[in-house]
Amino acid sequence: MIPPDFIDDVLARTDIVEIIEPRVALKRTGQNYTGLCPFHTEKSPSFSVSQDKQFYYCFGCQASGSALKFLMEFDRMDFLAAVELLAGRVGLTVPEDRQSGSDESARRRKTIYEILDQAAAVYREELRGHESRDRAVTYLKGRGMSGAVARDFSLGYAPPGWTNLYDKLAQSNYERDLLIESGMVVENAEENKTYDRFRDRIMFPIRDLRGRTIAFGGRVLGDSKPKYLNSPETPVFHKGRELYGLYEARQRNKNLTRLMVVEGYMDVVALAQFGINYAVATLGTATREEHIERLYRLVSQIIFCFDGDPPGTAAAWKALQVVLPFMSDGRSAKFLFVPDGEDPDTLVRKEGREKFELRLDQATALDVFFFSHLAQDLDTSSMEGKAALSKLAIPLINLIPEGVFKQLMIDELATRTGLDAEKLLKVARETKPAVAGRPRDVPVRNDGNTGISLSRRAEAPLAMLARQPELALELDDASYQLLSQVDDCSLLAEIALAVRQHELLSPGLLLGYFHGKPEAKLIRSLIEKEQLLDVSALREEYIDSMNRLLHGLEFQLKQALNYPLFQKPFSELTAEERRQINDLPRKKT
Ligand code: UTP
Ligand code: MN
Repeated sequence: MIPPDFIDDVLARTDIVEIIEPRVALKRTGQNYTGLCPFHTEKSPSFSVSQDKQFYYCFGCQASGSALKFLMEFDRMDFLAAVELLAGRVGLTVPEDRQSGSDESARRRKTIYEILDQAAAVYREELRGHESRDRAVTYLKGRGMSGAVARDFSLGYAPPGWTNLYDKLAQSNYERDLLIESGMVVENAEENKTYDRFRDRIMFPIRDLRGRTIAFGGRVLGDSKPKYLNSPETPVFHKGRELYGLYEARQRNKNLTRLMVVEGYMDVVALAQFGINYAVATLGTATREEHIERLYRLVSQIIFCFDGDPPGTAAAWKALQVVLPFMSDGRSAKFLFVPDGEDPDTLVRKEGREKFELRLDQATALDVFFFSHLAQDLDTSSMEGKAALSKLAIPLINLIPEGVFKQLMIDELATRTGLDAEKLLKVARETKPAVAGRPRDVPVRNDGNTGISLSRRAEAPLAMLARQPELALELDDASYQLLSQVDDCSLLAEIALAVRQHELLSPGLLLGYFHGKPEAKLIRSLIEKEQLLDVSALREEYIDSMNRLLHGLEFQLKQALNYPLFQKPFSELTAEERRQINDLPRKKT
């Protein structure tokens, strides 16, 4: 016996299309997906999957059911195995003691939703009636927000004070625990105290596709920090997957054709107020695969909206890399860069809907952004520049699924480099896609050309840095300065520090900065050599390899100096202590 609530919960977090699509070829037709029915033989498709209803149905043989039933029928799984598979996908574990204890845990999960809905109701109520509501209303009005849109998004207000929500909702220890588990109340175990997480903030409920409140974002009324506070990860909220405004967008428009990804809560709400009701926001995280996957299940066109400044461009480039593997034919991705000092919120208020939508229509196509970004600061009239461009482009193009779009990208690369498209295609086929390779045993060659020597341990991270310079931002200056003391790592440190100081956030900028110097040659040769690097996992690889490097260094330094600071593991040193180590007079190791 698995409690029905648990199964409900698993199904609520499962997208039936994700389950069926790998098993049955599906085509999107309007609101539904259709394909050839796997349960009877047929020539024209009468099998239909509704994402809305989370249900499949065959008009031919009347087979029908949920994702769970599909697995049982199609994969011939027994009930328990199918539940386990589905639960595993969404990070849930089937309650161990399925006889008794399970009821309790499913009940709790269920009631997390309930307590969050109650909290949303409390916040809405406070925005209408709390004695200090005027400040909140004045703030919202000051930002030009209409009452209607505030209602549509169920905005609320968490008044000042430490126990407003707690006092209202914690009727017993049971609710108290739920409030803690749902992240609404923070527990200080040492002092045995609990207090409201959100105080004196405008509250934005974050809802899942079914409209259940799963978390909150809260904005301060003034300029204090942090500007936004989000719910922590809870059993019902996984920040990296959710998109603010998706439920509301679907509510307002059942026939969405495109979705725009913006950065902030306020952007989503302001755009909706002006009739652009297809904007969603990531929750303070970079765009991730999970987001893209979700979006392309609903629409075939995504527009990413970013600031036009260097951090905005870097974020857009990241998003581009994430989106490439999803670019099968029929899908499109565009990039809108908003002018300096604006964001979608301010821009749509200034310009209104029509002008804003004109910008959307004229947004930069993926291929245009792709090539302009890669070619930036490369001299693509030179042979060297052309070679560098194709080396950078091919592993990325290889991430694109086979199809017309991929072919167009190759043609474009051919045009830009003057290289033969057929040849490029051949190289592309022979080059492993960027996701396939991992920089396991990067062979070490001291580069005879440049006279620069680089040890095995420093080469791997440097190669990654050459490919994706923004990785330098993953560690602080003090760490790199420490590295710069060590002969075989000093070049790596020098380059990382230059990236940080001068925001050399693309290979082009990096090459440009070291133009004419031996470093540039080395960087270029590393870029050329490291086509096999797994672009999507670079960040982790980089952090890993740097940690290994620093760890080795720590040992080296401990040996070299018998200094109390070195008794601490490197990871426990504060930035200040790292600086102190760095400032010590000593021999280079
Ligand atoms: P921004 O700092 O760009 O703010 O944060 P904004 O959306 O323009 O906000 P307003 O207009 O000043 O109200 C963008 C997003 O990053 C996350 C939030 O999701 C925010 O909407 N963020 C930002 C946080 O999570 N915490 C913060 O302290 C700041
Ligand atoms: Mn803003």
